[in-house]
Amino acid sequence: MTAVNLPASLIPTLAGEYYTDPGVFRREQSHIFENMWFCAVRASDLATPGSFRSVQVGRESVLVARGRDGRLRAFLNICRHRGAKLCTDEAGEVKRAFQCPYHAWTYGLDGKLIAAPNLTSMPDIDRTEYGLVAVHLHEWLGYAWVCLADEPPSFAEQVQGAVTERLGSLEAIDAYEIEDLQVGRRITYDVKANWKLIVENFMECYHCATIHPELTEVLPEFADGYAAQFFVGHGAEFGEEIKGFTVDGSEGFDKLPGVHDEQDRRYYAITVKPTVFINLVPDHIIFHRMFPVAQDRTIVECDWLYSKAVVSSGRDVSSSVELFHRVNRQDFDACERCQPAMDSRAYARGGVLVPSEHHIGAFHDWVVSSIGSQ
Ligand code: FES
Ligand code: FE
Repeated sequence: MTAVNLPASLIPTLAGEYYTDPGVFRREQSHIFENMWFCAVRASDLATPGSFRSVQVGRESVLVARGRDGRLRAFLNICRHRGAKLCTDEAGEVKRAFQCPYHAWTYGLDGKLIAAPNLTSMPDIDRTEYGLVAVHLHEWLGYAWVCLADEPPSFAEQVQGAVTERLGSLEAIDAYEIEDLQVGRRITYDVKANWKLIVENFMECYHCATIHPELTEVLPEFADGYAAQFFVGHGAEFGEEIKGFTVDGSEGFDKLPGVHDEQDRRYYAITVKPTVFINLVPDHIIFHRMFPVAQDRTIVECDWLYSKAVVSSGRDVSSSVELFHRVNRQDFDACERCQPAMDSRAYARGGVLVPSEHHIGAFHDWVVSSIGSQ
Protein backbone atom coordinates (compact mmCIF):
# COMPACT_ATOMS: atom_id res chain seq x y z
CA MET A 1 0.00 0.00 0.00
CA THR A 2 1.05 3.58 -0.54
CA ALA A 3 3.04 5.20 2.24
CA VAL A 4 2.09 8.72 1.10
CA ASN A 5 0.34 10.90 3.69
CA LEU A 6 -3.26 11.21 2.63
CA PRO A 7 -5.95 13.70 3.58
CA ALA A 8 -8.55 12.21 5.93
CA SER A 9 -11.09 11.80 3.11
CA LEU A 10 -8.85 9.35 1.30
CA ILE A 11 -7.50 5.97 2.24
CA PRO A 12 -5.13 3.88 0.13
CA THR A 13 -6.04 0.90 -2.03
CA LEU A 14 -3.86 -2.14 -2.54
CA ALA A 15 -0.82 -1.65 -4.73
CA GLY A 16 -1.11 -2.56 -8.40
CA GLU A 17 0.92 -5.74 -8.08
CA TYR A 18 -1.84 -7.32 -5.98
CA TYR A 19 -3.84 -7.52 -9.21
CA THR A 20 -1.10 -8.66 -11.57
CA ASP A 21 1.42 -10.75 -9.68
CA PRO A 22 0.97 -14.50 -10.32
CA GLY A 23 2.59 -15.12 -6.92
CA VAL A 24 -0.14 -13.12 -5.17
CA PHE A 25 -2.78 -15.01 -7.13
CA ARG A 26 -1.23 -18.34 -6.13
CA ARG A 27 -1.35 -17.30 -2.47
CA GLU A 28 -4.98 -16.28 -2.90
CA GLN A 29 -5.71 -19.68 -4.42
CA SER A 30 -4.12 -21.59 -1.57
CA HIS A 31 -5.01 -19.31 1.35
CA ILE A 32 -8.45 -18.07 0.28
CA PHE A 33 -10.23 -20.15 -2.39
CA GLU A 34 -8.88 -23.50 -1.16
CA ASN A 35 -9.43 -22.64 2.48
CA MET A 36 -12.89 -21.11 2.61
CA TRP A 37 -16.38 -22.25 1.68
CA PHE A 38 -16.63 -21.69 -2.08
CA CYS A 39 -19.99 -21.60 -3.86
CA ALA A 40 -19.66 -24.17 -6.64
CA VAL A 41 -22.88 -25.36 -8.25
CA ARG A 42 -26.64 -24.75 -8.31
CA ALA A 43 -27.97 -27.97 -6.82
CA SER A 44 -30.84 -28.14 -9.31
CA ASP A 45 -28.31 -28.31 -12.16
CA LEU A 46 -27.57 -31.80 -10.87
CA ALA A 47 -31.16 -32.98 -10.82
CA THR A 48 -30.70 -36.71 -11.39
CA PRO A 49 -28.36 -39.39 -10.01
CA GLY A 50 -25.21 -39.45 -12.11
CA SER A 51 -25.35 -35.81 -13.14
CA PHE A 52 -22.13 -33.96 -12.44
CA ARG A 53 -20.28 -30.70 -12.84
CA SER A 54 -16.60 -29.98 -12.53
CA VAL A 55 -15.55 -26.55 -11.30
CA GLN A 56 -12.28 -24.81 -10.66
CA VAL A 57 -11.68 -24.05 -6.98
CA GLY A 58 -8.31 -22.44 -6.46
CA ARG A 59 -5.77 -24.71 -8.19
CA GLU A 60 -8.02 -27.75 -8.02
CA SER A 61 -10.70 -29.18 -10.27
CA VAL A 62 -13.60 -30.29 -8.08
CA LEU A 63 -16.20 -32.79 -9.23
CA VAL A 64 -19.69 -32.38 -7.77
CA ALA A 65 -22.07 -35.26 -8.46
CA ARG A 66 -25.45 -36.50 -7.34
CA GLY A 67 -25.42 -40.04 -5.97
CA ARG A 68 -27.96 -42.80 -6.38
CA ASP A 69 -29.16 -41.95 -2.88
CA GLY A 70 -29.96 -38.42 -4.09
CA ARG A 71 -27.12 -36.83 -2.13
CA LEU A 72 -24.66 -34.37 -3.60
CA ARG A 73 -21.00 -35.17 -3.01
CA ALA A 74 -17.79 -33.46 -4.02
CA PHE A 75 -14.42 -34.97 -4.87
CA LEU A 76 -11.11 -33.89 -6.26
CA ASN A 77 -11.42 -34.59 -9.98
CA ILE A 78 -8.25 -36.67 -10.03
CA CYS A 79 -7.81 -40.39 -10.60
CA ARG A 80 -6.06 -42.11 -7.71
CA HIS A 81 -4.08 -44.40 -10.07
CA ARG A 82 -1.70 -42.12 -11.94
CA GLY A 83 -3.42 -38.79 -11.58
CA ALA A 84 -5.32 -38.30 -14.82
CA LYS A 85 -8.12 -35.77 -14.70
CA LEU A 86 -11.18 -37.95 -14.28
CA CYS A 87 -13.92 -35.84 -15.93
CA THR A 88 -12.75 -33.50 -18.60
CA ASP A 89 -16.24 -32.25 -19.38
CA GLU A 90 -17.55 -29.33 -17.34
CA ALA A 91 -20.94 -30.93 -17.00
CA GLY A 92 -22.67 -34.14 -17.94
CA GLU A 93 -24.27 -37.29 -16.74
CA VAL A 94 -22.93 -40.79 -16.17
CA LYS A 95 -25.05 -43.87 -15.65
CA ARG A 96 -23.57 -45.41 -12.51
CA ALA A 97 -19.90 -44.60 -12.34
CA PHE A 98 -17.01 -42.41 -13.43
CA GLN A 99 -14.43 -44.20 -15.51
CA CYS A 100 -10.96 -42.77 -15.91
CA PRO A 101 -10.14 -42.40 -19.61
CA TYR A 102 -6.50 -43.49 -19.04
CA HIS A 103 -6.49 -47.06 -17.62
CA ALA A 104 -10.21 -47.37 -16.81
CA TRP A 105 -10.21 -47.27 -13.02
CA THR A 106 -13.88 -46.88 -12.22
CA TYR A 107 -15.43 -45.04 -9.28
CA GLY A 108 -18.98 -45.14 -7.95
CA LEU A 109 -21.03 -41.97 -7.57
CA ASP A 110 -20.07 -42.11 -3.89
CA GLY A 111 -16.39 -41.97 -4.88
CA LYS A 112 -15.51 -45.59 -4.04
CA LEU A 113 -13.22 -47.51 -6.36
CA ILE A 114 -15.48 -50.17 -7.83
CA ALA A 115 -13.50 -51.62 -10.69
CA ALA A 116 -10.12 -51.58 -12.38
CA PRO A 117 -8.52 -53.81 -15.01
CA ASN A 118 -6.86 -56.82 -13.33
CA LEU A 119 -8.13 -55.77 -9.92
CA THR A 120 -8.85 -59.38 -8.97
CA SER A 121 -5.18 -60.20 -9.40
CA MET A 122 -4.37 -57.56 -6.76
CA PRO A 123 -6.30 -58.94 -3.79
CA ASP A 124 -4.28 -56.92 -1.31
CA ILE A 125 -5.77 -53.63 -2.56
CA ASP A 126 -8.31 -52.10 -0.20
CA ARG A 127 -10.77 -50.45 -2.60
CA THR A 128 -12.02 -48.02 0.01
CA GLU A 129 -8.46 -46.71 0.37
CA TYR A 130 -8.26 -45.85 -3.32
CA GLY A 131 -11.51 -44.01 -3.76
CA LEU A 132 -11.73 -40.42 -4.93
CA VAL A 133 -10.58 -37.81 -2.43
CA ALA A 134 -13.70 -36.35 -0.81
CA VAL A 135 -14.24 -32.61 -0.47
CA HIS A 136 -16.52 -31.05 2.16
CA LEU A 137 -19.89 -29.97 0.78
CA HIS A 138 -22.72 -27.98 2.34
CA GLU A 139 -25.98 -27.06 0.64
CA TRP A 140 -27.50 -23.67 1.34
CA LEU A 141 -29.78 -21.37 -0.69
CA GLY A 142 -30.03 -24.14 -3.28
CA TYR A 143 -26.28 -24.10 -3.99
CA ALA A 144 -23.55 -26.61 -3.21
CA TRP A 145 -20.74 -24.86 -1.34
CA VAL A 146 -17.49 -26.81 -1.14
CA CYS A 147 -14.43 -26.47 1.03
CA LEU A 148 -11.04 -28.00 0.31
CA ALA A 149 -9.62 -27.39 3.78
CA ASP A 150 -9.14 -30.45 6.01
CA GLU A 151 -10.90 -28.52 8.76
CA PRO A 152 -13.38 -26.16 7.11
CA PRO A 153 -14.18 -22.86 8.77
CA SER A 154 -17.61 -22.58 10.36
CA PHE A 155 -20.20 -22.24 7.57
CA ALA A 156 -22.39 -20.28 9.96
CA GLU A 157 -19.63 -17.77 10.57
CA GLN A 158 -18.07 -17.43 7.14
CA VAL A 159 -21.06 -17.62 4.81
CA GLN A 160 -24.18 -17.03 6.87
CA GLY A 161 -22.32 -14.50 9.01
CA ALA A 162 -21.69 -12.34 5.92
CA VAL A 163 -25.41 -12.32 5.17
CA THR A 164 -26.33 -11.47 8.76
CA GLU A 165 -23.74 -8.73 8.86
CA ARG A 166 -25.35 -7.12 5.82
CA LEU A 167 -29.06 -7.73 6.36
CA GLY A 168 -29.17 -7.71 10.15
CA SER A 169 -30.56 -11.25 10.38
CA LEU A 170 -30.59 -14.59 8.59
CA GLU A 171 -34.36 -14.53 8.66
CA ALA A 172 -34.22 -11.60 6.22
CA ILE A 173 -32.77 -13.83 3.48
CA ASP A 174 -34.81 -16.91 4.46
CA ALA A 175 -37.90 -14.90 3.51
CA TYR A 176 -36.97 -15.20 -0.18
CA GLU A 177 -36.84 -19.03 0.02
CA ILE A 178 -34.01 -19.02 -2.49
CA GLU A 179 -33.52 -22.80 -2.32
CA ASP A 180 -36.96 -23.30 -3.87
CA LEU A 181 -36.50 -20.87 -6.75
CA GLN A 182 -35.63 -21.94 -10.26
CA VAL A 183 -33.03 -20.69 -12.68
CA GLY A 184 -34.91 -18.57 -15.21
CA ARG A 185 -31.74 -17.46 -16.98
CA ARG A 186 -28.02 -17.99 -16.61
CA ILE A 187 -25.35 -15.90 -18.28
CA THR A 188 -21.65 -16.66 -18.02
CA TYR A 189 -19.20 -13.80 -18.37
CA ASP A 190 -15.52 -14.20 -19.13
CA VAL A 191 -14.07 -11.12 -17.47
CA LYS A 192 -10.48 -10.11 -18.21
CA ALA A 193 -9.92 -8.72 -14.77
CA ASN A 194 -8.65 -9.77 -11.37
CA TRP A 195 -11.40 -11.08 -9.08
CA LYS A 196 -10.70 -8.38 -6.47
CA LEU A 197 -11.51 -5.60 -8.94
CA ILE A 198 -14.91 -7.26 -9.41
CA VAL A 199 -15.49 -7.52 -5.65
CA GLU A 200 -14.43 -3.93 -5.04
CA ASN A 201 -16.67 -2.70 -7.82
CA PHE A 202 -19.63 -4.60 -6.41
CA MET A 203 -19.04 -3.13 -2.96
CA GLU A 204 -19.34 0.50 -4.03
CA CYS A 205 -21.80 2.66 -5.88
CA TYR A 206 -19.61 5.71 -6.43
CA HIS A 207 -19.63 4.59 -10.08
CA CYS A 208 -23.39 4.09 -10.33
CA ALA A 209 -24.28 7.55 -11.59
CA THR A 210 -21.58 7.36 -14.25
CA ILE A 211 -22.02 3.89 -15.70
CA HIS A 212 -25.44 2.56 -14.62
CA PRO A 213 -28.13 4.80 -16.17
CA GLU A 214 -30.83 2.08 -16.09
CA LEU A 215 -30.06 1.04 -12.51
CA THR A 216 -30.07 4.59 -11.11
CA GLU A 217 -33.40 5.16 -12.85
CA VAL A 218 -34.88 2.23 -10.94
CA LEU A 219 -32.99 2.97 -7.69
CA PRO A 220 -32.62 6.77 -7.61
CA GLU A 221 -30.71 6.80 -4.30
CA PHE A 222 -27.84 5.01 -6.06
CA ALA A 223 -27.16 8.21 -7.97
CA ASP A 224 -25.83 9.61 -4.66
CA GLY A 225 -23.01 7.12 -4.77
CA TYR A 226 -23.78 5.12 -1.64
CA ALA A 227 -24.26 1.39 -2.24
CA ALA A 228 -27.10 -0.50 -0.61
CA GLN A 229 -24.53 -2.50 1.26
CA PHE A 230 -23.03 0.59 2.87
CA PHE A 231 -25.67 0.55 5.62
CA VAL A 232 -26.55 -2.58 7.61
CA GLY A 233 -30.07 -3.75 6.89
CA HIS A 234 -30.73 -1.06 4.31
CA GLY A 235 -32.35 -1.88 1.00
CA ALA A 236 -32.36 0.74 -1.76
CA GLU A 237 -35.91 1.80 -2.49
CA PHE A 238 -37.41 1.71 -5.99
CA GLY A 239 -38.20 5.11 -7.50
CA GLU A 240 -41.79 6.31 -7.13
CA GLU A 241 -42.71 5.74 -10.76
CA ILE A 242 -40.98 2.37 -10.91
CA LYS A 243 -43.26 -0.65 -11.10
CA GLY A 244 -40.67 -3.44 -11.06
CA PHE A 245 -36.95 -4.25 -11.09
CA THR A 246 -36.81 -4.29 -14.87
CA VAL A 247 -34.73 -2.53 -17.50
CA ASP A 248 -37.40 0.12 -18.10
CA GLY A 249 -39.07 0.09 -14.68
CA SER A 250 -42.07 -1.78 -16.07
CA GLU A 251 -44.06 -4.33 -14.07
CA GLY A 252 -42.15 -7.39 -12.85
CA PHE A 253 -43.75 -10.46 -11.30
CA ASP A 254 -45.67 -10.99 -8.05
CA LYS A 255 -43.47 -10.62 -5.03
CA LEU A 256 -42.18 -13.93 -3.71
CA PRO A 257 -44.60 -15.26 -1.12
CA GLY A 258 -42.34 -15.02 1.94
CA VAL A 259 -41.02 -11.52 1.22
CA HIS A 260 -42.01 -9.08 3.99
CA ASP A 261 -43.79 -5.81 3.32
CA GLU A 262 -40.75 -3.83 4.43
CA GLN A 263 -38.63 -5.76 1.88
CA ASP A 264 -41.06 -5.00 -0.94
CA ARG A 265 -39.93 -2.44 -3.53
CA ARG A 266 -36.37 -2.64 -2.22
CA TYR A 267 -33.06 -3.96 -3.49
CA TYR A 268 -30.53 -5.58 -1.15
CA ALA A 269 -26.99 -6.52 -2.11
CA ILE A 270 -24.75 -8.87 -0.19
CA THR A 271 -21.10 -9.75 -0.74
CA VAL A 272 -20.19 -13.19 0.59
CA LYS A 273 -16.43 -13.41 0.49
CA PRO A 274 -14.62 -14.60 -1.40
CA THR A 275 -16.62 -15.04 -4.61
CA VAL A 276 -20.39 -14.59 -4.22
CA PHE A 277 -22.73 -11.65 -4.69
CA ILE A 278 -26.41 -11.98 -3.86
CA ASN A 279 -28.93 -9.42 -5.05
CA LEU A 280 -32.46 -9.56 -3.62
CA VAL A 281 -35.48 -7.88 -5.15
CA PRO A 282 -39.10 -8.74 -4.34
CA ASP A 283 -39.79 -10.99 -7.34
CA HIS A 284 -36.41 -12.51 -8.15
CA ILE A 285 -32.81 -13.06 -7.06
CA ILE A 286 -29.66 -12.37 -9.01
CA PHE A 287 -26.91 -14.68 -7.77
CA HIS A 288 -23.30 -14.28 -8.93
CA ARG A 289 -20.61 -16.90 -8.47
CA MET A 290 -17.07 -16.06 -9.49
CA PHE A 291 -14.42 -18.54 -10.58
CA PRO A 292 -11.04 -16.80 -10.54
CA VAL A 293 -8.88 -18.63 -13.10
CA ALA A 294 -5.86 -16.33 -13.38
CA GLN A 295 -4.65 -13.07 -11.89
CA ASP A 296 -6.21 -11.24 -14.83
CA ARG A 297 -9.19 -13.44 -15.67
CA THR A 298 -12.37 -14.37 -13.80
CA ILE A 299 -15.33 -16.40 -14.99
CA VAL A 300 -18.60 -15.12 -13.53
CA GLU A 301 -21.69 -17.27 -13.63
CA CYS A 302 -24.82 -15.25 -12.94
CA ASP A 303 -28.19 -16.87 -12.21
CA TRP A 304 -31.54 -15.11 -12.35
CA LEU A 305 -33.82 -17.07 -10.00
CA TYR A 306 -37.62 -16.88 -10.12
CA SER A 307 -40.51 -18.71 -8.51
CA LYS A 308 -41.43 -22.11 -9.93
CA ALA A 309 -44.71 -20.59 -11.07
CA VAL A 310 -42.98 -17.94 -13.18
CA VAL A 311 -40.48 -20.36 -14.74
CA SER A 312 -42.97 -23.13 -15.46
CA SER A 313 -45.47 -20.69 -16.96
CA GLY A 314 -42.86 -19.79 -19.59
CA ARG A 315 -43.43 -16.08 -18.91
CA ASP A 316 -40.93 -13.75 -20.48
CA VAL A 317 -38.24 -12.85 -17.94
CA SER A 318 -36.13 -10.83 -20.35
CA SER A 319 -36.96 -7.35 -19.10
CA SER A 320 -35.79 -8.18 -15.58
CA VAL A 321 -32.80 -10.15 -16.86
CA GLU A 322 -31.83 -7.28 -19.14
CA LEU A 323 -31.52 -4.81 -16.26
CA PHE A 324 -28.84 -6.69 -14.36
CA HIS A 325 -27.24 -8.07 -17.52
CA ARG A 326 -26.58 -4.46 -18.51
CA VAL A 327 -25.34 -3.69 -15.00
CA ASN A 328 -23.01 -6.69 -15.22
CA ARG A 329 -21.63 -5.64 -18.59
CA GLN A 330 -21.18 -2.05 -17.43
CA ASP A 331 -19.40 -3.24 -14.28
CA PHE A 332 -17.21 -5.81 -16.02
CA ASP A 333 -16.24 -3.32 -18.73
CA ALA A 334 -15.10 -0.95 -15.98
CA CYS A 335 -13.09 -3.72 -14.31
CA GLU A 336 -11.49 -4.65 -17.63
CA ARG A 337 -10.59 -1.01 -18.16
CA CYS A 338 -8.77 -0.97 -14.82
CA GLN A 339 -6.96 -4.30 -15.15
CA PRO A 340 -4.22 -3.18 -17.60
CA ALA A 341 -3.63 -0.07 -15.47
CA MET A 342 -2.74 -2.25 -12.50
CA ASP A 343 0.58 -2.87 -14.26
CA SER A 344 1.25 0.81 -14.93
CA ARG A 345 3.81 2.72 -12.91
CA ALA A 346 0.98 5.21 -12.31
CA TYR A 347 -0.64 2.60 -10.08
CA ALA A 348 2.43 0.93 -8.63
CA ARG A 349 1.59 2.29 -5.19
CA GLY A 350 -2.14 1.93 -5.71
CA GLY A 351 -4.94 4.46 -5.78
CA VAL A 352 -7.28 5.96 -3.21
CA LEU A 353 -10.74 5.34 -1.80
CA VAL A 354 -13.19 8.20 -1.21
CA PRO A 355 -15.47 8.14 1.87
CA SER A 356 -18.31 6.22 0.18
CA GLU A 357 -15.73 3.56 -0.69
CA HIS A 358 -13.86 3.43 2.63
CA HIS A 359 -15.50 0.13 3.58
CA ILE A 360 -13.50 -1.47 0.72
CA GLY A 361 -10.44 -0.84 2.91
CA ALA A 362 -11.67 -3.63 5.20
CA PHE A 363 -11.76 -5.97 2.19
CA HIS A 364 -8.17 -5.06 1.34
CA ASP A 365 -7.10 -5.63 4.95
CA TRP A 366 -8.81 -9.01 4.84
CA VAL A 367 -6.99 -10.01 1.63
CA VAL A 368 -3.62 -8.98 3.06
CA SER A 369 -4.20 -10.73 6.36
CA SER A 370 -5.38 -13.85 4.54
CA ILE A 371 -2.42 -14.20 2.19
CA GLY A 372 0.29 -12.43 4.22
CA SER A 373 1.89 -9.17 3.08
CA GLN A 374 4.37 -9.01 0.22
FE1 FES B 1 -6.73 -43.12 -14.12
FE2 FES B 1 -4.76 -44.72 -14.70
S1 FES B 1 -4.68 -42.59 -14.37
S2 FES B 1 -6.82 -45.21 -14.50
FE1 FE C 1 -21.93 -1.38 -10.59
